[in-house]
Amino acid sequence: MFDVSTIRDDFPIFNRKIHGNKRLVYLDSAASSQKPQQVLDAMDRLYTHDYANIHRGIHELAEEATAQFEDARNRIADFIGVQDSTEIVFTRNTTESINLVAHAWGRKYLNPGDHILLTEMEHHSNLVPWYMLAQEKGLTIDFIPITADGLLNMDQFNILLNKQPKLVSFTHVSNVLGTINPVAEITALSHQAGAVVLVDGAQSVPHLPVDIEHLGVDFYAFSAHKMCGPTGIGILYGKRVLLEGMNPFLGGGDMIKKVTFEDFSVNEIPYKFEAGTSAIAEAIGFGAAVDYLNAIGMQAIHDHEKEVTKYAYEQLATIPGLQMMGPAADQRGGVISFELDDIHPHDIAQILDAQGIAVRAGHHCAMPLHQRLKVQASTRVSFYLYNTSEDVDDLVKGIYKVKEIFGRGDV
Ligand code: ALA
Repeated sequence: MFDVSTIRDDFPIFNRKIHGNKRLVYLDSAASSQKPQQVLDAMDRLYTHDYANIHRGIHELAEEATAQFEDARNRIADFIGVQDSTEIVFTRNTTESINLVAHAWGRKYLNPGDHILLTEMEHHSNLVPWYMLAQEKGLTIDFIPITADGLLNMDQFNILLNKQPKLVSFTHVSNVLGTINPVAEITALSHQAGAVVLVDGAQSVPHLPVDIEHLGVDFYAFSAHKMCGPTGIGILYGKRVLLEGMNPFLGGGDMIKKVTFEDFSVNEIPYKFEAGTSAIAEAIGFGAAVDYLNAIGMQAIHDHEKEVTKYAYEQLATIPGLQMMGPAADQRGGVISFELDDIHPHDIAQILDAQGIAVRAGHHCAMPLHQRLKVQASTRVSFYLYNTSEDVDDLVKGIYKVKEIFGRGDV
């Protein structure tokens, strides 16, 4: 039984006030989520009781910390439907996971003249690593366009597959439009065309049930900090055969088998990609976050977010001068970006903040998408398991306050 008030009690941050006496209305979880006590306790317990470096020490603390670290990896694998946890690489975040693929797979397997296929709704993290590689290797990048409703244009996608891209890389859920993309269908078509598939799961794994083996993707990237876990830790899932065929990414400790004065040999996966001391406490916190979400149930979290998003969509649609971007409520995750009259999003965010309401304003690391939509900047609200219809009501009141301050008449 999903009980949002019990869930909110798990998050100590909701005990604080904003600007003195304002209730915190946190609508910026797409940027980073808040953390439950269970995750804070797991990291605290490690540091106060079990802490040592992992994979190196022959002593009790090292063994306990290593066991907890590897156990977290197993639970994260399980959370996304992956049987073989050696296919789960710890990185710093989604961005680093994508860069890892660009460097360790792209540099080795892509050649001048090759095409790679992205979409018009990508975050900079799934654009810039490919631009950098394209400049270095002489690659051509094509983009799957979006429809007027903010969905991927599947007819154009099929046409672009005729260029035989070596890689198709796209987001599962757009961090601006909220669009939930048909990952299994795009993956199957891309594979038929001979492409490798990478999916940016930063906005999906935290919010809906994800079964990687069912989706069939080759690489999948996501971050802990958007799913109740700590910052500084993320995941790259990669199919074993691909990870084994790749070059290492960073060089240093843990990623080697043997080093001589002349040469080195690389460790097995996933350690081959985990150079240096890992984010040990963060990985253990990530494991606790996964346990926390599992105990509530990802389907229940998704259903709750759909309900809050639908309510927000309906309420925002009644505000004169407010224009939402992206698809209808039933085709999106818990993200709504909008324009309001001719008021700059930074002003909107500042006035909302004065009322205790945290939103994001700007281009949300998706400048090309805003350019495509001919929108300079937008205001984004994003929901998570702890948001309520009361948060939406406060948002709507806050937006009317913005209109009043800016004298935008018809309120
Ligand atoms: N990618 C994060 C966002 O959309 C930071 O806000």
